[in-house]
Amino acid sequence: MNAQSINRRKLVIANWKMHGDISSNQHLLQAVIHGLSDYQQADYVICPPNPYLFQARELLSNTKIAWGGQNVNQHDKGAFTGAVAAHMLTDLGCTYVLLGHSERRVLFNETNLTAAARFDASVKSGLTPVLCVGETLAEHEAGLTEVIVASQMDAVMATLNDQSFAAAMQVNMVFAYEPVWAVGTGKTATPEQAQAVHAFIRHRIAMRNSEAAGHVRIVYGGSIKADNAKKLFSMPDVDGGLVGGASLSADEFIAICKAAN
Ligand code: 13P
Repeated sequence: MNAQSINRRKLVIANWKMHGDISSNQHLLQAVIHGLSDYQQADYVICPPNPYLFQARELLSNTKIAWGGQNVNQHDKGAFTGAVAAHMLTDLGCTYVLLGHSERRVLFNETNLTAAARFDASVKSGLTPVLCVGETLAEHEAGLTEVIVASQMDAVMATLNDQSFAAAMQVNMVFAYEPVWAVGTGKTATPEQAQAVHAFIRHRIAMRNSEAAGHVRIVYGGSIKADNAKKLFSMPDVDGGLVGGASLSADEFIAICKAAN
């Protein structure tokens, strides 16, 4: 397995969660576009709340920065009030979608099975899914990190038939290790802790397809800041970051992105 595969350019994704408005988004996007114009050695994605995807499309269309949804429904259409289908995201120019975020799992009762169904629907629509996995503090302290991450990974891998797996490879599926105890807490996994779990995730992918495992990007999320990004990104199996709070500050987000170059 070639750890420096060309398919594994560093990737930095901003998850704005439920923040922003038209005016502040415009300032933030313009600052990020300007700040990253000379840093093209990595890939960048912005995931705003759904109502602002149109605005993201307007401002990011002629840049190298992609945009994506924070979630998607597994159904194509129908009576699913509040839900958004994969083809609606692609219609708005999205190329990425976050799936299985711990906030979706904990606050909205999403499960491994729904994450797997959404993953399948995403790749079939040509979206690149970013599947979030990670353990809670209690699970971490009980030494269950690998058990939990494996169950979250395996639920998806088992759902994908060979055709869907090929489609997932085609769209360069991404995994995000987001230890729940590090999300929004200011506590970051050490580079060594992140590396160990990322290597485990890659091993889990290799059990399904060893060639794919070498190409798949696995990003880290959980209290990434400008001052810890460089060390995290230097680990061999950490292919970038999924940034929450720090992505709402242009200076901080740009500094994190520069650390990936
Ligand atoms: P924070 O960077 O705010 O810890 O959030 C991480 C996250 O949940 C990204 O999806």
